[in-house]
Amino acid sequence: MPDTIELLLKRRSTVAANLAQPGPSADQLKTLLRIAARVPDHGKLAPWRFIVFQGDARARFGQILADITKRNTPETTQERVELEAGRFMRAPLVIGVISSSEIHPKIPQWEQVLSAGAVCQNLLVAASAMGYAAQWITEWYAYDDAVCARLKLAEHEKVAGFIYIGSSDEIPEDRRRPNLDELITYWGE
Ligand SMILES: Cc1cc2nc3c(=O)[nH]c(=O)nc-3n(C[C@H](O)[C@H](O)[C@H](O)COP(=O)(O)O)c2cc1C
Repeated sequence: MPDTIELLLKRRSTVAANLAQPGPSADQLKTLLRIAARVPDHGKLAPWRFIVFQGDARARFGQILADITKRNTPETTQERVELEAGRFMRAPLVIGVISSSEIHPKIPQWEQVLSAGAVCQNLLVAASAMGYAAQWITEWYAYDDAVCARLKLAEHEKVAGFIYIGSSDEIPEDRRRPNLDELITYWGE
């Protein structure tokens, strides 16, 4: 397992289209989900949950995306319909992270949403530490009401991200990073 600091300094996302088999084993998936749930969580509310897409379920969900696309835009092309049908087939494993924040007397909703973001990042880092490649994606279907209904999201829930996980030989080059000098101030100086 690579040194944590080295991993965090070098980790990159790999585009979902380049994520191949094999994906995490059943035991590795359990470990990933345990790590995902070990995030800071003000009030211990666990304001998130997971939807796992693997095996044939990926194609079945893709068919739902294709059907909703046809319903949303009847003039759509066959090419687009096929793209939607194949979306979840891009990776052997996709974990949907659902933010389930609710109004709480003490814990601001904002903090509950941040915790869901931390879940997504934990998944990316853990997948990377296991030797897999991954990408955090929302695309259009995270925000489509009909898709959210098929995912059985409650009124107060939102998709925080779909974490696509698989294998890749590609070592992505680093991308341009923000200039830290422009982002940091030192209080009192
Ligand atoms: C909440 C969220 C949603 C994202 N959704 C998408 C998306 O729909 N499509 C996409 O290409 N990248 C999306 N990204 C960006 C990628 O996950 C990733 O940040 C980018 O590929 C480079 O990241 P890296 O620094 O980890 O390599 C999203 C990122 C975040 C934080």
